Parts: sequence; structure tokens; C-alpha cells
Amino acid sequence: MKTIIEPFRIKVVEPLQMRTREERESIVRKAGFNMFLIPAADVLIDLLTDSGTGAMSSLQWAGVMAADESYAGSPDFFHFERVLREITGFHHVLPTHQGRASERILFELLGGPGRVVPNNAHFDTTRANIEHSGAEAVDLPIAEARQPRLAHPFKGNMDVAALEALIQRVGRENIPVVMCTVTSNSFGGQPVSLANLRAIRDVCDRYGLPLFLDACRFAENAWFIKQREAGQHDRPVRAIVRDMFDLADGATISAKKDGMVNIGGVLLVRDEALFQRASNLLILTEGYVTYGGLAGRDLAAMAQGFREVLDEDYLCYRIRSAEYVGEKLLAAGIQIIEPPGGHAIYIDAAAFCPHIPATQFPGQALVVALYRHAGIRGVEIGSVMFGGGGHAAPALELVRLAFPRRVYTQSHMDYAVEAIIEVFRDRDQLRGLRIISEPPALRHFLVRFEEIA
Ligand SMILES: Cc1ncc(COP(=O)(O)O)c(C=O)c1O
Repeated sequence: MKTIIEPFRIKVVEPLQMRTREERESIVRKAGFNMFLIPAADVLIDLLTDSGTGAMSSLQWAGVMAADESYAGSPDFFHFERVLREITGFHHVLPTHQGRASERILFELLGGPGRVVPNNAHFDTTRANIEHSGAEAVDLPIAEARQPRLAHPFKGNMDVAALEALIQRVGRENIPVVMCTVTSNSFGGQPVSLANLRAIRDVCDRYGLPLFLDACRFAENAWFIKQREAGQHDRPVRAIVRDMFDLADGATISAKKDGMVNIGGVLLVRDEALFQRASNLLILTEGYVTYGGLAGRDLAAMAQGFREVLDEDYLCYRIRSAEYVGEKLLAAGIQIIEPPGGHAIYIDAAAFCPHIPATQFPGQALVVALYRHAGIRGVEIGSVMFGGGGHAAPALELVRLAFPRRVYTQSHMDYAVEAIIEVFRDRDQLRGLRIISEPPALRHFLVRFEEIA
């Protein structure tokens, strides 16, 4: 069969609120043209993020109901630990409330002034936690990652020669850990190959450095490896996942992505001494080591979610969803980061509305138009998010449409595609924006705009 269906049926439904165009007009104005300030109930198709927005399965909900809420030693912790050990091969498994909590613990232990942490591309919370510790976060993507129209199978790869050059320049004693993010969210949800992970491992071994994965989307990355890397096609995703983790000394994971839950995280470490220190910090700020700031029911949902994400029918449907939207936009002449990412599509807003200069925020203009026209919420990743506060303008003006897991059907995607194409046909009508108020940091969350006449 050519049609790839959603490999689930729907047992519980959540009605969507239809708003009229006039209602949306007043809502978007009241929100100062900022999507973060629009109440979720006024959004029809919410593509703001894939993080924590997925639908849980009947077995996950059954786990929630049956879970044990003991403070220490809950059977749901031991079950969660067993599942994570089985999938990743790591013996030491710490639960945390989300990815950035794992990052905060890791970098409080390994960061500090004078230290440098390389990554293929740091996600913003990883970078922020490294910088908060006083260390420097360095991105080392391959050159192809910076060329949106170039189709490369593993645009998430790290530039391994640049890694070695960095180690030689700053000294191996100043690098506490090498990170690699799978998939690379900051460069379009693009995967990292097994060959690249092995090459990074070789460099780490040569200099005696530990390698940690930021493994939020480990299963999506493994699916791409299965599809695109020579010699991997006939291997089970589970085996590829194991190969990825076997190359690492640790991992930070936000379970809000491939853990298929609405809240949760994991910190994995191999080193016994580091595990003890991480456990002590976890107890200080998150909670006891057998719950890590979560409820027993969250651990039960996570354990089941980490199993379900390895289902290859699910992964096939999941990756196909983004590809399907990407293909239709490309066919309509809309430029995106190619190839489509695992969890999102990134529209090139500068190419979409070339009459709007970066100083008037073309990405934000497009985000506003999508909401106004069809109630779709995306997010600007460009001069609004990264500009201001003396920062240089970013290289790309993008709009990200991220897909929640198991939430929307193909007809929702068809609707979204139709709306984007209609907005594209009338793109001359899009108007730039001017900032009327902004907070001192992370301005995209609270900034307010007015439209330029
Ligand atoms: C690659 C990556 N790392 C880390 C995080 C942080 O995870 P959390 O939002 O659970 O703190 C995210 C979240 O979007 C991410 O995409």
C-alpha cells in the first residue's frame, strides 16, 4: 500500500474550537501579534512545539491509574529503570522533571568558568545551562547544515575535524564533555549518522574525553539511520538505538519528545562517581532518586512511552507526516529547510515574503498570517527569537511548524498545507511588524508588536 496511515485508532477525543476570522483578528491583536500570548483554546491546529504535546496511549493511561506513589522505592521507578536499561544499556538511570533539569545537574557538575563544551548544535536550554555555569558552549555543525536548500542525508552531523581543532586549541583539560544532539533541533530536526557518532567517539577516545548524547529524539534519529545509512536498512530500530547509546558515556533526555509523555526527563551516566554526585544534586533540587521531581504515574507513563516509540510502524508514520507536509509545500514553490526534519518543517520566511526586511520580522509576519487565515499556530525562529539585546541578526528567518506526536491526522495536515499555500498566493499582502514592548531577555515569549501600515 502506498498510503501510510496513522497506526492507531482514536478512543478519546478532544473537541477543537472553531473561531471565525473576525474572532481571530481580535485575538491576535489583543495578544500583540505574539503567538505565545494567544490562549491555546483559541488555536485550531497547534504546531508551536512537539515537546510535551503528544497524546498518550491507552496503556500509558492504564499505567497512570495503576501507578504506586510511594516516596521511596516505588515499583514504577524500578520498572522505568528496567525499561531504560533494556533500551539504552545504561545501568545508572536518574529520572528528572524534564530535559533541562538533566542539563542543569550535568553542567553544575561538569561546567564552570574556563571550560568549553562542544556539540553539533546546542539546543537553547543546553547552551543556557552551560553558560549559566560559566562555561562556553560551541556549535560545530557540518558546513552543509547551514545551507537550507542542500539535501544531505545527515545534516545533523558534527564537523569532526573542527572538534579535533577545538580540542587542540583550548586544551583537552578544558573540555569536560563532548555533546551530540540527536536529532539536531537547532538545524531543522536533522539526523546524525552512526558513522559520525563513531568518528566523534574516536576523537573522544584519542583525547580521553567523555561523550554525552542530548537524546531527546533518539528514536527518530535511529529511524533516519535505518532509512538512509548504508548497511542499516535491515536492522531493527531497537538495535540501532542501542548502537547509538553504546557509543556514549551518558545522555540527557527530555522525555517530552520520544518519551511520548507530557512531562518527564532522564539523566543517564556510566561513571559511578559522576552518578553519585548527580544523585546528590538530584535529591537537593529535584527529589529523591526514585522519583526525581515526578509522580509515580509519570514514571509509569514514561516507561511505556519509551517502549512505544520504538514501534517501527509508529516511526514510519511519524517521519512520513513531516515529509508529507514538506513535499506539498515544496511542490507549491514554498522554500523550506531540506530535507524535512523529523519533528518539524522549517519554512524559509525570508524567501516567502521577500518584500519584508529582517528588521520588520518576516517570520513573525508569516506566523501572524497563518493564525489569522486558518487558526494555525507556528513559531518564528529568526530575528525575533535571536535578535535584540545587541545580538547579530541570525542567518535565517524561519517559521517552524512542529508536529505533536499522535495528535493530528492527515486531514489536519491537508488543512494546514492548504492554508499555507493560500497565504503564499497572497503573500504580497503580508505586512511587517514593529516592536512596541519587549522584555530584557528571551524576548520572543513576551514581546508585543504592531503592524506596519
Ligand atoms: C534538543 C533538545 N534538547 C533539550 C531540550 C530541553 O528539554 P525540556 O524542554 O524538556 O527541558 C529540548 C526541548 O525542546 C530539545 O529539543
